[in-house]
Amino acid sequence: MKRDGYQTAAQNDEADPAHPSSFSPPPSSFQIACPPKINLYLRIVRRREDGFHELETVFQSVGGGDTLHGQLANELALTCTDPDVPSDERNLVYRAALLLRERYPEAANRGATLHLVKRTPSGAGMGGGSVDAAAALVLLAHLWGLTLSPTEFADLGAVLGSDVPFFFVGGTALAGGRGEVLTPVPTAPLWLVLLRPDVSVSTPWAFRQWRAEACTSGELDEFVQRLASGDPARVADALRNDLEPGVIAGVPEIAAAREWLTTQGVLGARMTGSGSVVFGIARDEAQAREIAGRAGAPGRAWAAPCLNAQASALVVRPS
Ligand code: C5P
Repeated sequence: MKRDGYQTAAQNDEADPAHPSSFSPPPSSFQIACPPKINLYLRIVRRREDGFHELETVFQSVGGGDTLHGQLANELALTCTDPDVPSDERNLVYRAALLLRERYPEAANRGATLHLVKRTPSGAGMGGGSVDAAAALVLLAHLWGLTLSPTEFADLGAVLGSDVPFFFVGGTALAGGRGEVLTPVPTAPLWLVLLRPDVSVSTPWAFRQWRAEACTSGELDEFVQRLASGDPARVADALRNDLEPGVIAGVPEIAAAREWLTTQGVLGARMTGSGSVVFGIARDEAQAREIAGRAGAPGRAWAAPCLNAQASALVVRPS
């Protein structure tokens, strides 16, 4: 059985009623992988009356990330491997659960024990909290027996954060509005080196640093054409992030990280989203791994592939 595009691996493994000997009890514990994103291209069109900024951006799912575990329980409870990540209403996973209970009467008062294995850095511009929230909606809908359409997931996601709806699409997507108006495009098979300077950035602060006059690089159409070519050098030449100049002016560690990646030989490097992570486009997997493994990086470095929509889909699996 397939639930509106959000395939549940457990549901493919149901016992065959024609062969009672193959029966095994249904799993009670589930997990879901939470691959984060980068912004390959981010142009700020204007500041809106509601305080948000109108964007033209290209979201790209990347490998790795958090894992969210969950099982049914009487109460709602969240634990996290990272002691610095709050486990209450300040956590988007917890807020996703409360939102689902508030919006769907059949979920009111339902409980679950959730455990978040945190690997994606916070305040990094990788949507780590946002993908956790999207995954929580999918996992809890499964646990609580709710059937939600893609539109319902996207609408709930947009309440939780501007980039949450992207994670129900995954892969590569152009985004407009405040980040929630999405158009999927094919994924270029690129390898990245990611570098996190020892600093986190507040998203509202990053947007406040935006200065239109500091942002003059290329147009979205040109970037999309280069992405379609799949040529890492052509893509790397056209990266854009209008949040970068303002953030870098206040956070020199990010400039140093970008400079380090460039001197290591990546084809092009940019900050992702509101920072602080900087990514470089490598020639291939071998170069990405080699650069990430070099000692002396000003921060934590790792290699990751760009994922297509299938590889980044939020799929519930038995734990
Ligand atoms: O939607 P989200 O909670 O991720 O946004 C966090 C903050 O980032 C917003 O309160 C706003 O200050 C800023 N933001 C923005 N324009 C966007 C997205 C976020 O100004 N398109």
